[in-house]
Amino acid sequence: MTIADALPPELVAALRRARSIVALTGAGVSAESGIPTFRDAQTGLWARYNPEDLATPEAFRRNPRLVWEWYAWRRQLVSVAAPNPGHLALARLERLAPRFTLITQNVDGLHQRAGSTSVIELHGNLLRVRCSAEGTVYTTWPDVADPPPPCPACGAPLRPDVVWFGEMLPPEALERAWRAATTCDLFLSIGTSGLVEPAASLPRVAYASGATVAVINLDVTNAVEERCFYLHARSGELLPVLVSAAFPDAAT
Ligand code: OAD
Repeated sequence: MTIADALPPELVAALRRARSIVALTGAGVSAESGIPTFRDAQTGLWARYNPEDLATPEAFRRNPRLVWEWYAWRRQLVSVAAPNPGHLALARLERLAPRFTLITQNVDGLHQRAGSTSVIELHGNLLRVRCSAEGTVYTTWPDVADPPPPCPACGAPLRPDVVWFGEMLPPEALERAWRAATTCDLFLSIGTSGLVEPAASLPRVAYASGATVAVINLDVTNAVEERCFYLHARSGELLPVLVSAAFPDAAT
């Protein structure tokens, strides 16, 4: 059976007639680009590293160089990666749907490189840094022998412009995400384990507001509810087929 045969026709119909679609993405959507996820048993970053050593404000205060270099390594992985067919299908869906909102927990910028123009970044972006003291954001910074480099304005260490455990999400991004989830008629949750709040609540909020919800990942679940679809598939394989099934006449 092909992926196209396995698509629930009700989901294809819901995608075709939706007036407002939201897609929430997580690390799984970039897995086929060679970027490790966080919680996959063998390959996930949190199977190899302790988040408390690397992704908290305390970790940065304790050992800023270690944290800086870990993010520099992840930035390097992203710089040699390319968007995969899943990212490209979501960029295509943005062009085809009447209203489309892409919310991502990813910090890799691959959605933007695939052509998505309006991306709500809940957890920040690896490709930016900001001053750890006064928050000014920079997209370029000097290479220094003993990183992190200092803020050009005040000299405090620069840090990645990402959200760490124990930190607030950017309020404006969260508010826009919440508004989109409560007003959409189709919500796609793609490549996320749904374990980190508040992003994890968005599909439930959308469902409670009456949306159809489709969950696409490699987790095992047997739950079946009305208006809710669980698709066990790689996003890079499934999304192009799903978008083409819903919009068969559209140019690619
Ligand atoms: P996780 O690593 O928790 O979950 C990855 C999800 O992607 C799992 O559900 C996998 O089944 C699924 N998956 C793996 N490969 C896939 C593929 N090719 N196609 C589709 N699905 C696939 O990653 P997130 O849910 O994104 O936060 O993690 C959420 C947050 O936890 C991250 O943003 C990060 C992390 O700690 C911070 O750093 C603040």
